[in-house]
Amino acid sequence: MARVQVLMTLSGLVSVLILLWTATLTDGGDIHVTCVFSEDCVLPCSFQPGSDEVIHWLKPEDKDLTVHSYYYSRDQLKQQSQPYRGRTALFNDQIPKGNASLLLRGLTLQDQGRYKCYTSTINGNKKSFINIAVEAPVRLVDIKLTSDDIITCSSTGIYPEPKLTWSTEPPSDLSFDPGTIQNSTSVKVDDQGLYDITSTKQFSLDRTNICTVTSGTVERTATLKQQDAVQGSPSSEVSILCRVSQSDLLTFDLTWRFNQTDTILTSTKGTSQMQVDEQWKEQVQSLSDSGSLQLHKLTMVHQGTYSCELSTARDTHLVLTYLEITPDKLSDVSDGLSPGSITGIIIAAV
Ligand SMILES: *[C@@H]1O[C@H](CO)[C@@H](O)[C@H](O)[C@H]1NC(C)=O
Ligand SMILES: *[C@@H]1O[C@H](CO)[C@@H](O)[C@H](O)[C@H]1NC(C)=O
Ligand SMILES: *[C@@H]1O[C@H](CO)[C@@H](O)[C@H](O)[C@H]1NC(C)=O
Repeated sequence: MARVQVLMTLSGLVSVLILLWTATLTDGGDIHVTCVFSEDCVLPCSFQPGSDEVIHWLKPEDKDLTVHSYYYSRDQLKQQSQPYRGRTALFNDQIPKGNASLLLRGLTLQDQGRYKCYTSTINGNKKSFINIAVEAPVRLVDIKLTSDDIITCSSTGIYPEPKLTWSTEPPSDLSFDPGTIQNSTSVKVDDQGLYDITSTKQFSLDRTNICTVTSGTVERTATLKQQDAVQGSPSSEVSILCRVSQSDLLTFDLTWRFNQTDTILTSTKGTSQMQVDEQWKEQVQSLSDSGSLQLHKLTMVHQGTYSCELSTARDTHLVLTYLEITPDKLSDVSDGLSPGSITGIIIAAV
């Protein structure tokens, strides 16, 4: 009996505490909401339902600038300030239920800050404050070899201000490997107030070079490595490895490029959905299950760097392979003769 009473008292105390906590949340401190740049955002606000609703959304930091108003059972937008024209809406069917939340479309950085939600009904009135933070998360990190030994890493349209760091895998000792010394990072602000970041560093030939861009809680990575050069000839078939696991190929998008610019093929979610560029139809034989590129009928113009790029929303992995084309030495080379057997014949002739 006594134990039951104790339990009841405890649960009573807990509900009182919860009530107190909810009350401080709505009447005391601001509600904080983080929204995504250029997307829509809901500014939450609720009130005790009652008839003759009046709702005013204002921006107190900006001399109580009018964001949206509602009374006499309809939106009243004559006083609405210019930057909010055509971008706001209440959930009108929800107002009788005490929901005064505001939908704000196409967020800009100027929309950040503190908003006041004032509501009034025949039952009384209420004020609450909502603080909006806007983020433009890092989406894509681009990495490329910009000359023989310089890599460039960049990302655009970010907010708040991003950070960029370089590393290698396996890690290298800073004092011995010039590849870890990053010599320039520059940050620019675009006309919408978003940040663009670019950095260059010396390419560590024997390692995976990793570039990480961070902003707020979002981190995106791009990696680049170079593997041993591959030899080919007009009469041979060449396989350029990418080494992707089957499961990765299902979650990543794969793109093969030539000299880091021309797209050879793209494959989304597995090798079944493969798109080969017109210019490369002749040369591309197939894409293996592990993402390796099979080429044939090569000419001297196909000599260059082949890059296999794997990307998800989080990461980009780039593997570069140099393909060297050596002209066929024998006049009557039959199709399908591999470079190995040519070398064999040459050696045998010598
Ligand atoms: C108000 O209604 C909208 C739309 O249905 C909903 O997304 C939002 O969560 C509601 N807000 C509150 C405070 O009930
Ligand atoms: C970075 O360093 C490399 C090699 O030391 C140099 O060639 C390049 O010009 C440098 N870039 C900048 C922007 O200083
Ligand atoms: C590709 O790059 C190589 C050197 O990296 C260059 O020799 C070749 O001319 C380039 N090919 C084309 C078609 O741009």
